[in-house]
Amino acid sequence: MINLKKSKKKEYKLVYDNIVLIGFMGSGKTAVGRTLSKKLFKDFVDVDAVIEAEQGCSIAEIFEKKGEAYFRTLEQKCINELTSKKGQVIATGGGVPIHSTISDKSLIVYIDADFDVIVERLSARERAKRPLFDDEQRARALYDARIDTYKELATYSVDANQVIPTFIHMIVDYILDKRVL
Ligand code: S3P
Repeated sequence: MINLKKSKKKEYKLVYDNIVLIGFMGSGKTAVGRTLSKKLFKDFVDVDAVIEAEQGCSIAEIFEKKGEAYFRTLEQKCINELTSKKGQVIATGGGVPIHSTISDKSLIVYIDADFDVIVERLSARERAKRPLFDDEQRARALYDARIDTYKELATYSVDANQVIPTFIHMIVDYILDKRVL
């Protein structure tokens, strides 16, 4: 006999409020988020950009003047506020899954790029914006320490070692196929 109550509950659980993109620095979350939001007719927001606008200075300046711990409190507040609304694609900073809690009503997509691919993609200008990327060896160690958490948190992981338009299609296909939004 089919337990209607149970199957209904399961169906409901598949509906998420927002798409949250996670992944290491420079994996392409912002670029992916912008295009994905257009394809899915959603609003796009970027946690780092919201923090910079609210604080009136760059992430690098926040790290320098107030320290990383202070930045992490801003991140948690920001992701809480953003996920209290619906219908957005939210690009997070690479440290959000490690230092913050993300609402479980979020469809979490992990942009899974190898460290070497990231290094190749990041221009010197993009690196300079990221205080935790100024030493490549330290950044690699951070990458190694974080990937398991990214994988565990993800509702869906996409192989991001290919050109961005290709894997954006894979994310769109997943979302439409699963009918989760
Ligand atoms: C950080 C990632 C950065 C930014 C800050 C810290 C991290 O964002 O939030 O420099 O801890 O990984 P991106 O992932 O967009 O580079």
